Amino acid sequence: MNMAIRFDEKKKMFQLNTKHSTYLIGLTPEGYVGHVYYGKGLHNMCGGYLLRTEELPFTPLVNEREKISFLERFPSEYPTGGIGDYRESCLDVKNESGSIGCELLFESYRIQKGKKGLPGLPASFGTEDEVETLEILCEDKILRLRVILSYSVFAACDIITRSVQVENAGNQRLRLEKVYSACLDMDNREYEMLTLTGSWARERHIQRGRIRYGKQLVSSVRGESSHQEHPFIALVTPDTTQETGEVYAMNFVYSGNFIAQAELNQFDQVRMVMGIHGDGFCWNLKPGEVFQAPETVLAYSSEGLGKMTRNLHDFYRGHLIRSVYKYKKRPVLINNWEATYFDFNSEKLLDIARSAKKYGIEMLVMDDGWFGKRDQDDKSLGDWTVNEEKLAPGLLDLVEKVREIGLEFGIWFEPEMVSPDSDLYRAHPDWAIQIPGRRPTQGRQQYVLDLSRSEVSDYIYKCVADILHSAPISYVKWDMNRYLSDIGSCCLDKDSQGELFHRYVLGVYEMQERLTTEFPELLLENCSSGGARFDPGMLYYSPQIWCSDDTDAIERLRIQEGTALIYPLSTIGAHVSDCPNHILGRNTPFSTRADIALAGTFGYELDITKISEEDRAQIPGQVEACHKYQELIQKGDYYRLASWSDRRPYDCWEVAAKDGSEALVTYIQVLSVPNMPSRVIRLKGLEALAEYRLEGAEDVYTGEELMNCGFLIPAEPGDFVSSRYHFVKK
Ligand code: DGJ
Repeated sequence: MNMAIRFDEKKKMFQLNTKHSTYLIGLTPEGYVGHVYYGKGLHNMCGGYLLRTEELPFTPLVNEREKISFLERFPSEYPTGGIGDYRESCLDVKNESGSIGCELLFESYRIQKGKKGLPGLPASFGTEDEVETLEILCEDKILRLRVILSYSVFAACDIITRSVQVENAGNQRLRLEKVYSACLDMDNREYEMLTLTGSWARERHIQRGRIRYGKQLVSSVRGESSHQEHPFIALVTPDTTQETGEVYAMNFVYSGNFIAQAELNQFDQVRMVMGIHGDGFCWNLKPGEVFQAPETVLAYSSEGLGKMTRNLHDFYRGHLIRSVYKYKKRPVLINNWEATYFDFNSEKLLDIARSAKKYGIEMLVMDDGWFGKRDQDDKSLGDWTVNEEKLAPGLLDLVEKVREIGLEFGIWFEPEMVSPDSDLYRAHPDWAIQIPGRRPTQGRQQYVLDLSRSEVSDYIYKCVADILHSAPISYVKWDMNRYLSDIGSCCLDKDSQGELFHRYVLGVYEMQERLTTEFPELLLENCSSGGARFDPGMLYYSPQIWCSDDTDAIERLRIQEGTALIYPLSTIGAHVSDCPNHILGRNTPFSTRADIALAGTFGYELDITKISEEDRAQIPGQVEACHKYQELIQKGDYYRLASWSDRRPYDCWEVAAKDGSEALVTYIQVLSVPNMPSRVIRLKGLEALAEYRLEGAEDVYTGEELMNCGFLIPAEPGDFVSSRYHFVKK
């Protein structure tokens, strides 16, 4: 398996090989592009019979009678709507006379080293040694529609990405009603579907259940990837655990509306699709125009969910996140949101900064409330001028003073929004997304700016850039606090309003591209009412994303477990906050809050001048732990060892260095149980014959001992208590 991609002219088959998996695509004599196989790595190109073209009372070239029964069962790489495959289609094209129908047949192919970017969209990347790309060109001769199916093979990470480009090569106006990015047709193997669901302050809880006949899906039509459902789907065999079972996963490199669906049909075939949601979507394609659909990431693992997780982590770290901070030390920050909400001024911030400095914290982030007349959340979004009553005598003075204290300075923006009570809205009411004649619905008392218009995004971008040029600012938190509704833009004609959702996302990407190009050293953290836009699209621009507004340590266990199922710990915005927790009213030990925040970017979100002396005294040790483990946590392999969401009274994870030289285990006893035994935790990722010393103790274990016999976590009473174990190779 040397070349990642090859084509067998005789068999008319493409073979895509990663280190441990193979993906096979077959062509029928007529030119249908079929899915043959995806699974464990194969040495030879075999399995062509899986297209089952001989079983049916139909061969398109000879006998047109039963084309429907062919199309209904054919395992297609990219099914189209309107011609007789009644399962979910990936591409629906309306012609000038208003009918939907499209049939794609193979034209040609190209195999290249490396991978091209996707214009206007975030996309994975790699060198010519890391990735190879197959482009299959298909055509509908009647519509003169050319479709390129792209497959990029990242062999070392066991990842294949897919994307689709659609070109109108004819001379009629076409209208795309739906363009998905990937499809996977397989025979059912009692698959279970695993997705991430939730709500505000309860994002990305893992949900799993057997698939049933019909369609089951997760999706968003909110204009962003959402708190509620996540652009991720995995089909897993019933025996799947962290270490066993087969996993087929798809993750969408996109931050707007999406669909991720599995459909079990009458023939026990499963069709798994992912793409931009068809609801509220259309795209007009004039002659000569091209539409680029976003990228989907495919991960296959024959070693359970744990392997999928580690492959995705490696892939996102190595091939999607671009920031210079990807592997760089990130400052331990303190954010004033939960400390002060809107009620702060320079003096208050400087008090926090002085105290934070004493305890080793490295950056102060000024959150919402520093601009316009923003003393509460019903005004001033869009008026990005410094409130000099609060920040007297000005922002530069505050930033300089914070830097003199010895901290870096970060700032909050919500660039995509406008408050009805703002000078911007009063001057440009038409800049808000709205349907003419209808008062737009408010969310958090704000409207969404129409970022499909360049004059709007240019203006807002300039406001943000001017502030960043006005003072030495090291960090930006880019927030977005409502979903889209009332989809209408005064700059789009009546047939193009369905383009607005996608054009909005393109507008956000364009602004973040400008920001990261103009300020390459800036540490950007995306955020959306907590974690409503935590997705691969945003990771392309920012190396970390605020994970959830819920900073309660125990709630964070489930939220961070679901998030870390896909995304590296280095991307997960996690802070220690005050107790009783502002959302739940729960009290947890300060040390537990820190141990859980350590499985993320680590920082504080509290009024350090007001917390107890006992808690404050723990901060230097916690900051030191962050410095000590940050590199391991950023670059290491993550293993989920036990899960509170599996109804256990405890939770446990490990990060092991890739070379097996050290491992950090975090154990959280969520609830104490009577008559409690000590717990055996089996470590992973160590060198079997090496010896490991448990830091802070005399104990020495061999790697195989820790991995096979396990490590004993002593029984101790108490709820919400945590412990950390650092094993270092001798
Ligand atoms: C929502 C974010 O998630 C919070 O951290 C905070 O920045 C608020 N917005 C500010 O309005």
